[in-house]
Amino acid sequence: MVLQAIKYTRGSLQILDQLKLPHAEVYDDIRTSTDAWHAIKEMRTRGAPAIAIVAALALAVELENIATKGELSQFGEEVKVFIEEKLEYLVTSRPTAVNLADAARKLKKAVEEAAKDDSVSGEAVKEAYIKAAEKMLVDDVQDNEAIGKHGAEWVVKNTEVGKSGQVSMLTHCNTGSLATAGYGTALGVIRSLHSNGSLKHAFCTETRPYNQGSRLTAFELVHDNIPATLVTDSMAAALLRLKGPSERIAAIVVGADRVAANGDTANKIGTYSLAIAAKHHGVKFLVAAPRTTIDLDTQSGEGIVIEERPGKEVTMIKGPRHDGASLDLQNVETVSIAANGIGVWNPAFDVTPAELIDGIITEVGVVEKGSDGGFNLQRLFDDTP
Ligand code: MRU
Repeated sequence: MVLQAIKYTRGSLQILDQLKLPHAEVYDDIRTSTDAWHAIKEMRTRGAPAIAIVAALALAVELENIATKGELSQFGEEVKVFIEEKLEYLVTSRPTAVNLADAARKLKKAVEEAAKDDSVSGEAVKEAYIKAAEKMLVDDVQDNEAIGKHGAEWVVKNTEVGKSGQVSMLTHCNTGSLATAGYGTALGVIRSLHSNGSLKHAFCTETRPYNQGSRLTAFELVHDNIPATLVTDSMAAALLRLKGPSERIAAIVVGADRVAANGDTANKIGTYSLAIAAKHHGVKFLVAAPRTTIDLDTQSGEGIVIEERPGKEVTMIKGPRHDGASLDLQNVETVSIAANGIGVWNPAFDVTPAELIDGIITEVGVVEKGSDGGFNLQRLFDDTP
């Protein structure tokens, strides 16, 4: 069975509630852009590409349902303005991942194009929007499969492959089917290595404070029968010292929320520490992301806004009650794991400087640093209209 975080058909959108995973698989209906805004803010859906696609499709569903009820304006210009306002609102849900802003920009462009002619109907503008939003869902899966293929080839070619012809990999956060329209970016590279017979073992970090690694990536790895081990974030550097046949890490591969023009990369908090540890141990450090995550308008990591989340995500933890023998899935509890009254800093992301990154894996290939020591990311877009 394929893991699906986003279920979409014309007029209907459901998201897998990622706050309930891995213990319960519950889908929530998303009928409007307001529903999507809240689902993104609360992180019931998360991951840079998934956020963008859920937002885009939520508005597609809202428009379709307005039209079905006979409430869509007959004037193209009015529908265009409605769409623009909703997109601007959706972009405010989470600030760091650029994919949502990129999707909004492209969708506005598609709508502008459709509404060029003054006599265009509201229905035609709505159709142009829905077609563009639906294309994003399809394109993301294809892009991820290409990222997986390019990344797996690069790893096999550029790292120390064991006698078995296989490599072990470490990843952080969740970048798989749950974070995208399907397959995943960094986890897509691990999936691709596995399906080629080139993966010895995958390690995933717990990813505090929200535990995307232990709850979501571990869930995906178990689901796909990929040989894998969970470590806490604080164990990663110690793991990189190990030289056993399964434990020798060939490369760390992570996703991204925003890659600046110079290659500085914002990703889940903890990524920066992993990159420093990788450099110290001579382990390759790779970022896997579609071009929709690359923000050429932001020159460096200095310009990336880092979202800060509520302190209770650090001081509290949620899960089903465990009586020592089994889980009681009917009884989900939130418990405190910190001293009452302590101050908390909870940035959701950090920025890894480009100098610590060996390659950026995209759907059109892997970019390495040039002779000037920098990434030339512009060339990834040179053929794009
Ligand atoms: O806060 P999250 O769970 O949305 O953060 C997710 C990440 O940092 C991912 O690594 C990134 O979005 C890439 S997902 C393909």
